[in-house]
Parts: sequence; structure tokens; C-alpha cells
Amino acid sequence: MTTGTKTPAACLIGWPAAHSRSPIIHHYWLRTLGIEGGYVIEAVPPDEFADFVLRLSHRGFVGANVTRPHKESALALSKPDDRARAVGAANTLWFKDGELCSTNTDVEGFINNLDACAPGWDKAAEALVLGAGGASRAVLFGLIERGIKRVHLVNRTLERARALADQFGPKVVPVGWEQVRDLLPRANLLVNTTSLGQKGQLALELDAGLLPSDAVVADLVYVPLQTPLLAAAQSHGLKTADGLGMLLYQAVRGFELWFGRHPEVTPELRALVEADLTKT
Ligand code: ATR
Repeated sequence: MTTGTKTPAACLIGWPAAHSRSPIIHHYWLRTLGIEGGYVIEAVPPDEFADFVLRLSHRGFVGANVTRPHKESALALSKPDDRARAVGAANTLWFKDGELCSTNTDVEGFINNLDACAPGWDKAAEALVLGAGGASRAVLFGLIERGIKRVHLVNRTLERARALADQFGPKVVPVGWEQVRDLLPRANLLVNTTSLGQKGQLALELDAGLLPSDAVVADLVYVPLQTPLLAAAQSHGLKTADGLGMLLYQAVRGFELWFGRHPEVTPELRALVEADLTKT
């Protein structure tokens, strides 16, 4: 484990140490903004996580990203903002006046990517969200915060969709997969938060041709970069927002909090991460 780094450094805490694109992103910003700083991966087992986080600044870190399986523990060990609390998981930690604070940057990652790819998307009267896991919570929070009036929430396990509807209120309407076909023609925004369509997973069976002509389609899956859902949407002339865009935009806030500068999501950064994705 890293101790006593001289320049400001952040880390990504996970277990086991997974291949992550976050170092590519943060190293790019450190380099292009001329900041002397670091970003490293720390593999920390669950039984050592609390100790690691409580001694984060002693270890020389100004903050951290947190990934599986630690996101819920990170929430419990810090002072979460509304987003982290609503999502039930924290992915970014930083210190404010010595206190360990947390947020969930998936919310703004999703929303800012949509703003960049499909400005005006929030005029959508109705959204259709597929999936009711952790990623879905971040999406629902963002959509409601931006004023979407009705979100149909589809999930294989209807109980999980119902639980999220209970949490997020009457704007979220839980529905079963058998209703998707009827809902597609009304969905101005379609979001896939399930793992369907991801490399090695089952395909997402859905007719994008049924969507209205002004619909925007977002997929959180980014391996492959162009999922069959996004390809189908584009073939019907629809605007799309991909999972890589969300990944890049979700990294902005952490960098800002740790290193004090606002970094840009540039085509050059996107190309760097894309190159890494095609290796896998
Ligand atoms: P994440 O944190 O990425 O959202 P998750 O909490 O494990 O991951 O949620 C995965 C989502 O993909 C869930 O909505 C899951 O549906 P269930 O709640 O019914 O498990 C959905 N999902 C995964 N595999 C699926 C499949 N083969 N068919 C339909 N939905 C699937």
C-alpha cells in the first residue's frame, strides 16, 4: 500500500484489483493541466476497507474513488451528500475541513453526458428506464432532479423496480418487460442500465424502430462501445449517448475535488480510453 506521497494523490479502492480506465483519465488531466499529482489503484479486501479509508489522509491521499465491493461501506464511513444517499452508494471520497465526505458522481456523469450528446433531452415527457440495480438509482435520481415527469421503470425482477418506485416516489412507475413494446412509442428517452448487450452477456431484445422520431437513447454499457441498442437507435436516426461518455463525465467531479481544477472531457481523452477499451 502507498504511504506518504509528497504530491497530492488520489486512488481507486476496489477488491479484487480490477482493470480500470480511471487512471488513464486522471493521468491525462494531470498531464494536460500541468498538475503534479497521482492516481493509483489500491486493492483493499473488505475486512481492511474501514481501516484504509479512516487512514486515507495518513496514507497521503487527498481522496479516492471507490468501486466494488466497497461503495456501500464508503457511504457508511463518510458524510454523504444527497446523491450518494439516494443512490445508496458512494463512489467518490474527499476531505472538507478535515471531514471525509462522499458523493455519487454517476448521477452527473449520466446527466452531463446526455447534455453533451443530446441537448434538450430533458424536454422528454416520458422516459423508459431498463434495470433497477445500483446504476438505475443514479439515473432515476438524475432524471427526477432534471424535472422528468414520468419514468417507466422496467426490470426482470419486478420487486426491485417496485422498491425503487417506493423510494423515488410517484414519478417512477414500475412495469414488467411484457409492457416494453407498448411503452416504446411514448418513450422520448430510453435508458439501458442493465448488463444486457454487454460483451459476454445476453442481447437486449428490443425494437428501437418503435421509438418516437425525437427519442434519445442512452446505454450505460460501454463494452462494446457501440452496443447493438445504440447501433439500432442510430440506424433510425435517433440521438444517442454512450456509456463511455458517462464514464468520462463521472470522473470530472472527483478530479475537481481532489486537485482543485476543472478538467474537460475532450475528444483526445475519449480516444485514449477508446484505444484501451479495444484492447480488451
Ligand atoms: P448495476 O450496479 O450495474 O446496476 P446490478 O445492481 O447488479 O448492477 O443490476 C443489474 C441490472 O441488470 C438489474 O436490473 C438486473 O435485473 P434483476 O434485478 O432482475 O437481476 C439486470 N439484468 C442483469 N442480467 C439480466 C438479464 N439476463 N435479463 C434481464 N435483466 C438483467
